[in-house]
Amino acid sequence: METTFMTSRDTLLSALHETQSREKGKSWITDGEALQIARRYHIPLAELDGIVSFYKMFAREKRGSHIIRLCDSLSCRVRGSLDLYHHVRRKLGIQAGMTTPDGRFTLEIVNCLGACDKAPNLMIDDSLVSGITIGAIDTLLDAMQEAEL
Ligand code: FES
Repeated sequence: METTFMTSRDTLLSALHETQSREKGKSWITDGEALQIARRYHIPLAELDGIVSFYKMFAREKRGSHIIRLCDSLSCRVRGSLDLYHHVRRKLGIQAGMTTPDGRFTLEIVNCLGACDKAPNLMIDDSLVSGITIGAIDTLLDAMQEAEL
């Protein structure tokens, strides 16, 4: 019985992930997509929203084409994540939880990314970047902005 639940939950999470990233530059689950998934899994939409809100990798509101997730758990904080956050905040002109006006970047503060020994860490979309420095952040963001011009 429990195995069935786990399998169902696992496939639900896969469906959410696949749906959220189906189109290039889209990183959220629309109302219509959420309704379709809720129907497919025979769960109320409110329950689906609860699951989506539990996992920080999912979003129900529009986000930027690129998601920057900056870890602020202990190892990263000790190694300068707060300075990195303030730098990114100034560079992009947004605070945590916000999206740049051009829709390119959303900045999120997250808990441990599981690479504490290489702190400080951040993720840009699905890529983990370890041992990040302010200079490396500038290089990455500048390259991403130039690539999209
Ligand atoms: S504390 Fe940042 S990756 Fe673990």
